[in-house]
Amino acid sequence: MNNKKVLISRMFSDIEAELLKDAGLFITRWNKERPMTQDELIEKAKLHNALFCTLSDKIDKKFLSECSHLEIISQYGVGYDNIDIPEATRLGIPVGYTPDALTEATADIAFGLMIAVSRKMFFMHKKIIKGEWDYFKPRANLGMELKDKTLGIYGLGRIGVKMAERCKGAYNMKIIYHNRKPTPKADELQAEYVDFNTLLTRSDVVSLHCTLNEETKGVFNKEAFSKMKPSSIFVNTSRGMVHNEHDLIEALNTGTIWGAGLDVTNPEPMQPDNPLLQMENVAVLPHIGSATIEARTEMARMAAENIIEFYKNKRIPHIVNPETIKNRQV
Ligand code: GLV
Repeated sequence: MNNKKVLISRMFSDIEAELLKDAGLFITRWNKERPMTQDELIEKAKLHNALFCTLSDKIDKKFLSECSHLEIISQYGVGYDNIDIPEATRLGIPVGYTPDALTEATADIAFGLMIAVSRKMFFMHKKIIKGEWDYFKPRANLGMELKDKTLGIYGLGRIGVKMAERCKGAYNMKIIYHNRKPTPKADELQAEYVDFNTLLTRSDVVSLHCTLNEETKGVFNKEAFSKMKPSSIFVNTSRGMVHNEHDLIEALNTGTIWGAGLDVTNPEPMQPDNPLLQMENVAVLPHIGSATIEARTEMARMAAENIIEFYKNKRIPHIVNPETIKNRQV
């Protein structure tokens, strides 16, 4: 493959490294116990033709202006809000990603968080650690059941569908959803398309599965929480910046909503003294939606395949900005 060099921004798995090497590409891996700073990333990327990167690598205007020579950026992940896509497209740099590799894994985390919150699981677990498991108190720490409740999906895409299937199958939950426009994905779930306001007022559980963009940034704020039921559970496994953390804490403290399950926070990492971590009806995880052997293996394979196919056949199986590869010479 004409001595093409790929920079891999951290030790992902060995799978992508093997696949890329077997395809005849030269690879460099950042193998330190910390991520590269942006300056380090820029400095190294300058010496390579392709970049294999992930969510915490900042591929913004500054990066792209200094590394406009890159022939492909391959993101290990389904979200790509760390990459300035319009700018990469303007520069003619194709961006690959790994949709569907982590769909089941992330839906499991959303489903698990919903149940954990409904039964105060994380809080009760902490009680044992603190030596507070004493005697049976019939009225204490009561959770709520999910059977026949209404699930409101904000962003019914691949992961939202899998969350909805789990909730329907396990608890016969009624599914309502809000997207920019109705989607045929809803038909099999008999999911009802509703406007944002109705999603908030009717749902017993609101689960976020949208991408982060200018339209979704900060949408779950004080006003949105104030429309939700006092008995409702808020679940976010998409991006922390879709909710306003200050407003969420206030909504929980004032009983405006009942509980929250988060796999994503704003900012990440969440600091250990964050008040959310002490709340009874809250469960927080450190962004582990895709953390299964199966999902991470498939992400590595797909992200490597995007690069290999690009150099071999001038195509990228999973591409964000297909307009960049038309007529491109590599
Ligand atoms: C994970 O959050 C991803 O977008 O892949």
